[in-house]
This record gives sequence, structure tokens and C-alpha cells, in this order.
Amino acid sequence: MAQLPTNAADRHQSAVLAQPVSPAKGQWTMIVRLGRDYVRRHLTTLSFAVVAMLVTSASTPLLSYLVQPALDLIFTQKRADMLVLIPLAIVAVVIVRSISGFVEQALVNGLAERIVADTQRDMFRAQIHLDLTSLNAVHSGEVVSKFLYDAQLLRNSLARGVAGLGKELLTLIGLMIVMLVMDWQLTLISLVVLPAVAWVTQALGRSIRKSVDRGMQETSNFSTTLSEALAGRRIIKAYGLETYASAMADAQISQRLRFLLRTVRARAAAVPATDLFGGLVIAFTIFYAGWEGLHGHLTLGHFAAFLAAMLLAQQPVRNLTQLWTVAAEGLSAATRIFEVIDARPSIVDRSSAKALAIAHGGGAITFDQVRFSYHGDAAIPAVDDVSFSIAPGQKIALVGPSGAGKSTLFNLLLRFYDVDGGAIRIDGHDIRDLTLASLRAHIALVTQEPILFDATIAENIALGRQDASRDEIMAAANTAAAHDFIMAMSDGYETRVGEGGLKLSGGQRQRIAIARAMVRNAPILLLDEATSALDSESERQVQDALGELMRGRTTLVIAHRLSTVLDADCIFVLDHGRVAESGSHSELLARKGLYARLYQHGFEEERVSG
Ligand SMILES: Nc1ncnc2c1ncn2[C@@H]1O[C@H](COP(=O)(O)OP(=O)(O)OP(=O)(O)O)[C@@H](O)[C@H]1O
Ligand SMILES: [Mg+2]
Repeated sequence: MAQLPTNAADRHQSAVLAQPVSPAKGQWTMIVRLGRDYVRRHLTTLSFAVVAMLVTSASTPLLSYLVQPALDLIFTQKRADMLVLIPLAIVAVVIVRSISGFVEQALVNGLAERIVADTQRDMFRAQIHLDLTSLNAVHSGEVVSKFLYDAQLLRNSLARGVAGLGKELLTLIGLMIVMLVMDWQLTLISLVVLPAVAWVTQALGRSIRKSVDRGMQETSNFSTTLSEALAGRRIIKAYGLETYASAMADAQISQRLRFLLRTVRARAAAVPATDLFGGLVIAFTIFYAGWEGLHGHLTLGHFAAFLAAMLLAQQPVRNLTQLWTVAAEGLSAATRIFEVIDARPSIVDRSSAKALAIAHGGGAITFDQVRFSYHGDAAIPAVDDVSFSIAPGQKIALVGPSGAGKSTLFNLLLRFYDVDGGAIRIDGHDIRDLTLASLRAHIALVTQEPILFDATIAENIALGRQDASRDEIMAAANTAAAHDFIMAMSDGYETRVGEGGLKLSGGQRQRIAIARAMVRNAPILLLDEATSALDSESERQVQDALGELMRGRTTLVIAHRLSTVLDADCIFVLDHGRVAESGSHSELLARKGLYARLYQHGFEEERVSG
């Protein structure tokens, strides 16, 4: 469970990932962008929410405004009719406020959920379209935590923060107006404290953004550990690594907790800090108003109403500071979410790219002095000066020691990476002049480890070509020697294979993967032969299936078995990224070079046992 450095030396890393926006500038850019790209789509919902919000907000100062007539008319003027009217008015206002409060909450929370879903869709689309280099540069744990944890932060902050921000501001403005109308001098006096509140809030927001950023880093490290621990569960059990894995998780959880607690403390400080200032204002106002009262400038009702408005105003101010801290978390999450959305693949179609069309009897492949290294600054390229040609329908075998560059040639032909020098051509077209989609549509890849998804067998086969009919799927499975074992399963083609195909044996998985390549029916076949030994019966079935698959297709096979090598039209022996030798099996043996040595060590067992 080694921790891959997330900033793995990576020359293709997207510009966006490389230059994080500065938080101060980013804050407003984020808000504008959220509004423009996401909130705007829901303008109708938003307008209803705002109306509900206005009604709710208006009712609070209205309640305080009813206090003055209550005191003055009932107590001072002793009017009995008001004893009924004023409570009735209060009940009416409260009912309206409850209804509007419900509508507002439902709409605003729904809006937040929809916006988060939209960002998740955009994130996934951007992520899955990235090229392999960029995808390899981020760990899956980081991606998962962005999708789930950051999304949650954003949702909270949208639902509570942004919407609440509007409501509390409106309430505050309403109460301010009431206060101003009642006594503008007293109001101005109570305002002197606002800059201090604003300053404290800003500072808390900054600190929160910082600890949320660090906390997220820890969250993604932890998700990584979690997913690796689950993926490697068999090794963890077999090697007795439970304690080791738990210790690692413990350390990350504690680290993450440290930053989360920092956020919690900053958030908790927001309300008491404003309350402190609020208390000071109340004390001062009572002193000033009392002094005015003593000198006969202020009636009791007037003073009481003003005080009520001011006490009510404390709540929106508290909420505003608290909401700002929630918004700070959301903005920090939005920054990371937009980073994902903005990432662009570095391998894209050229503007002049043409669709590849391979005519019947076509499919010639040429490697022309191909050079490539995974890291621009690597001393020894993964592939260097590789040249060879394959005629349409021919089958060539690539052999060579581990790390020689065999899989790299496949990666280049599929344009997972672009060559650094030379060119790869299909029927004379440089593959960089072709559209990626058409290039890959003409190639079927069978990987060393078959990759299955947790879906039904039929669905797994149909991944080869999404419009494949049931008959085509069954025909492919038949040719891949998979039909019989599929039919023997409880649900036949509808059997779910489990995560990564864990309900199937290694050989069964391989045959499903072969059937998938079969339905693809592509003129070019790339085959990374599995090294894992199967029992001789399934081995023979897999070999037969592959033989069927290769018929009539231009095939490159990374060979580990003697039978494959013997079948090939030509064998290329790679060593340290270069073609060291080539020829037929007997020619190569006669050279007594690298191939002869590989043959002695690698293929011999099979010859003896098989
Ligand atoms: N994604 C990658 N990033 C960086 N380096 C890589 C990557 N994949 C392969 N390499 C390096 O490129 C070289 C060639 O690797 P390649 O996978 O092509 O070997 P191979 O011939 O397929 O070996 P094997 O038979 O073991 O599969 C190796 O030195 C390897 O370390
Ligand atoms: Mg390989």
C-alpha cells in the first residue's frame, strides 16, 4: 500500500491542476461561476425560493413592529379591542411565516441537491475523458473524495450558506429599516460595531478554508488507503497485514481529525465572537437610551420596540457570521470541484483529423523509428528507434524481458500516449492525423488481466460493441469457448459477475474478455497474453478461442507461450526499448542471441509439460 505521490512527475499534467487559483481572487470567481454555470439553470425555482424568502424575512421585523402598538395601545391607552386584534395579527403573521418557511426550505435544499448533481455530472464527464497520463496522476481516492466529500460540503454551503445568506441579509435590512424609522441616532450608534464583526468573520473564513483544504488532502489519502486495503484484501489476509493496515488508517484518520477539529473550532468561534460584540452594543444602547429616557426624550414603548428590533437583529448577524464560515467550506470545495471540471485531456483530435476507415483487406501497421518515454526527462526511453511493419491480416509476436517496452508499444498504438519521435501508421495514415474515436474503434484490446465490471455476463461482453445484439453476444461467447460455462451458471447470460468479476475463475474471465473482443469485430487485435498458468484444459480452450479471434485480423500479440510464438508470422524481440532481433522461431533460435536465451528459460517448461 505504498502512497503514490499525487504530484508524480508528469509532463502532461493539465495547466489547471498545475496552477491553483489564489483563494482571495478565487473566492469571487467561484461565486460568479457557480451562479453563471449552475444556479442560472434553476432560475424559476430560485425566484420562487426568493419570494418565499422575502415573505419569511418580512414577517420577522413585522412581529417586532407589532410590539410597540401592543405596549402603547393595550397597556398605556387600555384599548380592549386591541387585546384581540393584535394577538390575531401575530397569529396571522406566524402562519404565513410557517408556510413560506416550508416552501423556502424545500426549494432551496432541492436546488442545492440539483446543483451538486449537475457538478458531479460535469466532473465525471471531464474526468473520464482525460488522457491516461492525467488519470494516472491522480489517485482514485482523491477522485472519490472530491466526488463525495467535496460535493457534500458544496451542498451544505449552498443550502445553508448561499440561500441563508440572502435571507438573513434581508431580515437584517428589514430590522434596520424598522430601527432607523424608530430612532436613527440609536441605530447609527449600534452600527459602529459592524466593521469589527466583519473583520472577525473574514479571518475565521480564511482559517476555515485553509483547514478544510488540508483536511481534504487527508480525506483523499484516507480514501486511497481504504480503496487499496479493500482491493488488496486477499494479500492483507494472506500476509497478516491487518494490524499494519489498521495502523496506517489510524494515523490518517487522526491527521484528518486534526484538521476537521480546526474547522469545527473556527466555526464554533464565529457565533460567540459576534455575541460578544452584540452584548457590548446592547449594554451601550441601554445606557444611552436610558439616559435619554431619564431626560424625557424617549417613551417606554418606543425604547422597548427599539430594543426588541435590536435583539432580533442579533440573530441574523449571528447567523450571517456562521453562514460565512459554511460558505467558506463550500468555496474551498468548489475550487477543487472546478479543478476537476476544467481539466482537459492532452491527447485530443487534431482539427484536421480524419476518421479512420479500414477497407476489406486493409489494416497494415507501420512503426517508423518510434521513440517514447513516460517522463520527458527519463535517461533511457521506454521505446527507442522501433521500426517494423505488419501486413494486413498478419500476426506478429512481441517477446522480450520484463520492462522491455512491449506493453508500451500497445499504449502508443492506441494513442494512450503520443510518440516523442517517429510515427505509427495504419494503412499509411499517421495515427495522430486520425480521430481518436475512429482509431480505437478499429482496435480490440485484450489485456493481460481481464477487466470485468460488476454487471451481467451479457453486458460485460457487449462492452466490446454497445449495439451488439443478443445473438451476436452468444455467437461471440460460443467462439470464445465461454457459452457452455455461462449456460451452466444460475442465471446464464444474466449472471452478475461481482466486483471485478470475482465470481468467475481466471480462465472464465479471460474467455469473457475474449468474447468481448470478438463482438467488437475490429480489424486490428492487440493481445497481451496472460502469464498466469491455467490448467491444461482451460488453457487449450483459451488458446482455441484466441486462435478464432485472430483469424483474418492484423494481430500484435505479446507472447508468453511457445504455441503463440510458433504461430506468428514474425517474432520481434524487444530489449531495453529497442528491437534486438526479429525473424521466425527457427531463425531466431539459430542466432543463439536473446531469443534463444529467453526460449531456454521461458518457453521450455511449457514444452516439457504441454
Ligand atoms: N505508466 C507508466 N509510467 C511510467 N513508466 C512506465 C509506465 N508504464 C511503463 N513504464 C516503464 O516503461 C518501461 C517499459 O514498460 P512496459 O510496460 O512497456 O514493459 P513490458 O515489456 O510490457 O514488460 P512486462 O513484460 O513486464 O509487461 C519500463 O521500464 C517501465 O518501468
Ligand atoms: Mg507488459
